[in-house]
Amino acid sequence: MGFKDKVVYQIYPKSFQDSNSDGWGDIRGIISRLDYLADLGINYIWFNPMTVSPQRDNGYDVADYRSFDPRYGTMEDFELLSAEAAKRGIGIMFDMVFNHTSTEHEWFKKAMAGDEKYKKYYIFRKGKGPGLPPNNWQSKFAGSAWEYVEKFDEWYLHLFDVTQADLDWTNPEVRQECADIVNFWRSKGVHGFRFDVINLISKSSFEDDPNNYDGRQFYTDGPREHEYLEELNRNSFGQDDDHLTVGEMSSTTIANCVRYANENGKELDMVFSFHHLKVDYKNQMKWELQPMDFMSLKKLFTDWQIGMQEAGAWNALFWNCHDQPRSVSRFGNDKEYRKESAKMLATALHMMRGTPYIYQGEEIGMPNAYFTDISQYVDVESTNIYKVLKEQGKSEEEIIHILQERSRDNARTPMQWDDTDNAGFTDGKPWIQAADSYHTVNVKSTLNDPDSIYRHYQKLIEMRKTMHVVQEGRFIPLLQDHPKIYAYERRDENDSLIVLSNFYAENAEADLDLENYEVYLSNYADTDVKNHMVLRPYEAVILKRK
Ligand code: GLC
Repeated sequence: MGFKDKVVYQIYPKSFQDSNSDGWGDIRGIISRLDYLADLGINYIWFNPMTVSPQRDNGYDVADYRSFDPRYGTMEDFELLSAEAAKRGIGIMFDMVFNHTSTEHEWFKKAMAGDEKYKKYYIFRKGKGPGLPPNNWQSKFAGSAWEYVEKFDEWYLHLFDVTQADLDWTNPEVRQECADIVNFWRSKGVHGFRFDVINLISKSSFEDDPNNYDGRQFYTDGPREHEYLEELNRNSFGQDDDHLTVGEMSSTTIANCVRYANENGKELDMVFSFHHLKVDYKNQMKWELQPMDFMSLKKLFTDWQIGMQEAGAWNALFWNCHDQPRSVSRFGNDKEYRKESAKMLATALHMMRGTPYIYQGEEIGMPNAYFTDISQYVDVESTNIYKVLKEQGKSEEEIIHILQERSRDNARTPMQWDDTDNAGFTDGKPWIQAADSYHTVNVKSTLNDPDSIYRHYQKLIEMRKTMHVVQEGRFIPLLQDHPKIYAYERRDENDSLIVLSNFYAENAEADLDLENYEVYLSNYADTDVKNHMVLRPYEAVILKRK
């Protein structure tokens, strides 16, 4: 397959680089930074949505799937971007948001005007009684998942914000519209697609959640999910020899993912799953903090690596994205061991079996934003949950602390290019404030540092591009009960790599038979190979068989 030697870089366009001083990132800004990305060595860029949107959910509320929001630029700008990226051997991946549209989309507007054809594009249902929604499902952004429309005396479903109305995938016309949109972008030369929350499109029934939970058991990995993906594949991207597709799978299972992303299947190339990013959720609750449960993190990685491998399926590998706090703050140590721990996290992830994704700023070790006042937050999820937590009686201080750890805005602050105003992102007023860390953590200072996190990422990317064992080797877990070290081997017919990563700020010791191994890459200058290894704080080492 054509993607096992590739690494994807994710750009959050709104925060990457502004070229016209309006405080928004844009396509021309991205073009001006392509050399930086080419130098890093990545093969693909995934762009979060840049199409027309009221921006309630930063573009995941799509009002027009086929035109760029003018704040990002024009189709001509995009054609230039595409050509300039191609010159540098970089492919483009677009984000397709097909579970829902914005209520500003013309389909929804027609539905609201009473056009029956378009009403059937969405999920309208009668309530259970006066003032009562059809069921007890909760929106992922807080509150009921249903909104009442008086003139129909019906409610429409929105699993996300009230302005993001769910599409009805049982309607073949909806499915055809979505395939047509993918085909439109294919005709513009786009062959990479990320499908947003795509495992939520098949709803099984509309009954109450008996556990009084959010209802996800009735709409996650639903009964027609695989059929819909096969159909979309057949009617669109599956017609290209060379494509790269990834599905964002919310609360999914290995059993479903081995089908979504099977080498012999006809659905997608790979999947994002999120279980490993919930190991610091207390009782699975995002807004309740606990330190990471390292043993479950290890077990989840191992289960997914092996489960997918044994079935011939493929994982996307990631610590960060626009919805997650920064990994160096979360699983590493963004104070005294920022560099060591950022490199350790990269090493542990990039050597696994699957396709690594790097989120903008991760390669320079950007930490969380640590905003101190609610007025600094922009994200709809954060501002909604702020109100909910207030109602629950939490203090301002507690809530801000929770947001500092969990808010999606931690990932969305401007890319830190240098130490000039607004981190070099814009010379206008940025739509979201830059994080204070830009004074010290920025690309400019990184590029002058031969020992930087960025250089470490370059080396990991190079390894994936050039080493068969990284691309195709089997994953074999090691030291599974070790409380501080995550360890595994990658092995093919000719080579073996052993990867050891200490996830803690203290030394960690391990005994292994390493007689025939030598250091290939380490985040410390003087790592010694011994059968009794003593890894220093956040030390991560890749050993290669001689
Ligand atoms: C996905 C996106 C997220 C968005 C949500 C609704 O999880 O990554 O940013 O809010 O879907 O579209």
